[in-house]
Amino acid sequence: MKSRILALLRDSDGVVSGSAICARLGTSRVAVWKHIQKLQEMGYAIESGPKGYRIGSSPDRLHPWEFPGREDRMVYLPETPSTMDVAKDLARRDCPAFTVVVAGRQTRGRGRMRRVWGSEEGGLYFTVVLRPHLPVLWSSRVNFLVSLTLAGVLREGYDVDAGLKWPNDILVQGRKLCGLLSEMESEGDQVRFINVGIGLNVNNRPPAVEPPAVSLQELLGRPVSRRDILTRFLDELEQAMHTEPWDTVMAGWKARSVTLNRPVRIVTARDDLSGTAVDVDENGALLLKQADGTMATVVYGDCFLA
Ligand code: BTN
Repeated sequence: MKSRILALLRDSDGVVSGSAICARLGTSRVAVWKHIQKLQEMGYAIESGPKGYRIGSSPDRLHPWEFPGREDRMVYLPETPSTMDVAKDLARRDCPAFTVVVAGRQTRGRGRMRRVWGSEEGGLYFTVVLRPHLPVLWSSRVNFLVSLTLAGVLREGYDVDAGLKWPNDILVQGRKLCGLLSEMESEGDQVRFINVGIGLNVNNRPPAVEPPAVSLQELLGRPVSRRDILTRFLDELEQAMHTEPWDTVMAGWKARSVTLNRPVRIVTARDDLSGTAVDVDENGALLLKQADGTMATVVYGDCFLA
C-alpha cells in the first residue's frame, strides 16, 4: 500500500486528494491516512491540506515499498550480521530469483578471502539471489556479468570512471568503490542458486582497506540515493540475465578491465605470484605471465595492482 501511495504522489505534479487515492487504491480514507502518517514519521515530507496530499522530499529508504513491482521480493533489515546469511537461508527455501536482502548496516559483513567488510550506515549492502540456467562450470560468469552491469550503471548514471579489477571489484581512480562476494549451491552439474553480495560505498565513510577505498559521495561531492542505484542496477541486471549473454560477458568485462596488461601481484591460499595479467579465460580465471616467462592460471585469489 505504501508503495502505491508513494507512486501516486510522486507521479503527480501537485496535490492529490484523499478521495482520489482511496478510489485508485480501493481502500478507506482512514487506511490511507494511517499509511501517510507512518511515512511522515519515517521522514517523508508529505504535506496534508484541505485539498489533499503533496509529497516533497523523500528520505533515502530501502524498504520494500520503495521498489514498486519488486516489493514481494525485497527484504529490508535495518541491521543484520550479514545479508549473505539471510539470503542463503531464503535461497535454500526456494525463494524466487531476484529476491534481494538489503541491510541498513551489517555487524559481521563478510568480504572475499575471509576478510571483514566494514558496513556502517550510509553504504549499500545487499545480496541478490540469482537462479541462472547454467552448468556449474560457467557459474563464475554470473559474477562477471554482475560487476560489469553495476559498473555500467555507475558510469552511465553517475558519470564515474568505474573500472573492473579482477576478479570483481569496481575501482575509480585506483580506489575501491565496490566489492562483490558470491556463494553458490548446485544440483548435479546445474546451478541451483548463486547469491551475489555487493558492498558499495555510497554515503558511508569507507573503511581503510587495500586498495584505498572511496565513496560515491566523496567522488560526486553530494549524497547519493542508494534506492536509485539499487533500482537501476536490479532493472539492468534482470534485463541482462534474460538475454543470457554467457558467450559475450567475458569480452564485455575485459573491455572495462583495469587489471589486464598491468603488472600485478596475486595472493592465493597457497601462493604469492607476480607478473603481468595478460588475459582472463572464458570462466574468469586470470592468466598471469611471470618474470621467467611461465604462465600461471589463477582461479581464486587476491589481486593487487603493482
Ligand atoms: C570484497 O570485496 O571482499 C567483497 C565484499 C562484499 C561485501 C558485501 S556487503 C553485502 C554482502 N554481505 C556481506 O556480508 N558481504 C557482502
